[in-house]
Amino acid sequence: MSADPCARGRRPRPLSPKPVAGVADPGPRSLTATTFTHRTCWVGRVVSAMITLLIVSCANFASPPAITPAIIENARPDHASAKELVTGRNLFVSRCLECHTLPSVTKHSPDEWPHLVSRMSGRANLSASDQSAIIAYLRAASFVRH
Ligand code: HEC
Repeated sequence: MSADPCARGRRPRPLSPKPVAGVADPGPRSLTATTFTHRTCWVGRVVSAMITLLIVSCANFASPPAITPAIIENARPDHASAKELVTGRNLFVSRCLECHTLPSVTKHSPDEWPHLVSRMSGRANLSASDQSAIIAYLRAASFVRH
């Protein structure tokens, strides 16, 4: 009857024989309604698979490095505490993607980040302490010590 894989092994359930109080019996389910249900089932599966893929891939490349002992060590010359680095990372992920995608922390060097962040700070409306926390985080996260 139908070539839809979602329809395989399934039959439209017979309508409940009990009439709903006050509602006229709608009669047997029409063919169009049945086809529509099956199509929705198939489309639903594809859409949920796509949404899952999107979430997984975004989670992977949008997440800048978390505060690790190595990053805390990198921030030592700047006298930035672990707490300030956490604040800086939180501000970075929440405030620096209002206008564009989050830049990768390794896109610029520790020497380049301060002036870039101060150039963006006016636009992002950041206070001086927000700014220095973001700079401390980006400077420390932008390189790996060897
Ligand atoms: C109000 C909008 C806005 C906000 C908020 C914002 N930016 Fe930008 N950003 C821009 C625009 C517009 C450009 C492109 C033009 C330019 O480079 O000036 C840009 C460009 C950049 C670039 C590219 C420069 C390059 O050569 O790679 C970097 C890096 C960057 N922003 C970092 C940041 C960081 C870090 C923050 C958070 C502190 C931030 N942005 C917040 C608007 C914004």
